[in-house]
Amino acid sequence: MGVSAEDTLNGRRILLCVGGGIAAYKALEVVRRLRRAGAQVQVAMTAGAQHFVAPLSFQALSGLPVRTSLWDDAAEAAMGHIELARWADQVLIAPATADLLAKLTHGFAEDLVTTLCLATTAPIAVAPAMNHCMWRHPATQANIALLRQRGVQVIGPDVGLLAEGESGPGRLSEPEAIVTAISGGMVPMTGGDLTGIRIIITAGPTYEDIDPVRYLGNRSSGKMGFALAESAIRRGAEVVLISGPVHLPTPEKAVRMDVRSAAQMRKEVFAAMPADIFIGAAAVADYTPRSIVPHKIKKNASEGDNLKLELIRTPDILAEVAQREDIGLKLVVGFAAETNDVADYAKRKLASKRLDLIVANHVGITGQGFEGDDNAATAYWPGGERDFAAGPKARLADDLINLILERLHA
Ligand code: CTP
Repeated sequence: MGVSAEDTLNGRRILLCVGGGIAAYKALEVVRRLRRAGAQVQVAMTAGAQHFVAPLSFQALSGLPVRTSLWDDAAEAAMGHIELARWADQVLIAPATADLLAKLTHGFAEDLVTTLCLATTAPIAVAPAMNHCMWRHPATQANIALLRQRGVQVIGPDVGLLAEGESGPGRLSEPEAIVTAISGGMVPMTGGDLTGIRIIITAGPTYEDIDPVRYLGNRSSGKMGFALAESAIRRGAEVVLISGPVHLPTPEKAVRMDVRSAAQMRKEVFAAMPADIFIGAAAVADYTPRSIVPHKIKKNASEGDNLKLELIRTPDILAEVAQREDIGLKLVVGFAAETNDVADYAKRKLASKRLDLIVANHVGITGQGFEGDDNAATAYWPGGERDFAAGPKARLADDLINLILERLHA
């Protein structure tokens, strides 16, 4: 049996850039087909494209607000254009006008679409559509040749009747052919899918209360755990997300339990069992105050200028989960955030907590680790390891879910 578009597109993030040509209406059908194959589609339109099709049409089909400008404060606040460029697994420009191809060739970044194309590291595919004289023009042909040389996938154009009544090469390829062409360039996500698999993920920090107004916390944002939940859900898993205090929206279809302390997190984890996989992505406090003072501690309550706080160890949720053979977990995954001797500490934790997999990352590097959007990591398992280069947490999450699937079937 061959590999279908669904096999390669399911769970992929496609950034569809729509250029300003009459064929823009056909891009609506491209969105529909990509979505049907399980891809997430974010549409960005040039100013010209908006003369042909309303952004709302693309929004209705993609299920996501359409990006139309570099200067849209609200859209930029939700996901900056650089973040969007890095979010994509694949960029598709359809229709690609002669003007857009020229700008792409020469590295222009004067509007949203050209900037996205220059900023992305994802593969780019173009589906040209234009008048046949414009297509045959040496300038366009030279641009296309250069783009091909740089690895850009060129889909079509088809030969046939053009919008202006003339015939020749310049028709946008049929949506089905475009979708098949881009899926053909992709490797199927490895290891099948996660349908029928239940995963419990812990995320975010824990807050250990000292008194009614103070607590001990840490700088975890929860982004990594939430990204893992999203990725696993897109692959068909049933996900219970047990989160400490974070400011993140609940991934669609995740069952979310909000907790505050390590003790509460432990309670919810065991309440959510049984499961097939446990992923401890939370930065759980290792210590908590022996008791919570019921009223606000006053300055003069302490002797002299010093205040002594007695801390006791919290339960190690991950280690306890890994030891419990009665709950039938197939895979237990931990995280290790380290500032130094990363590999050494991670391997030690893998062994001492009896984990199947540990994901180590170097915290304290600007832009990476706890609060940032990017992360680099190395995963270790008994007898193996794999490096993941720095990239958006969403992409790392996809890579880690692939590895988790591999280890599940190992
Ligand atoms: N973890 C947990 N329960 C705890 C502490 C940590 O489940 N009470 C989990 C985290 O979710 C993470 C891993 O254990 O997956 C981190 O391991 P840990 O040894 O606690 O790391 P650190 O807290 O960084 O420990 P240390 O300070 O010894 O480096």
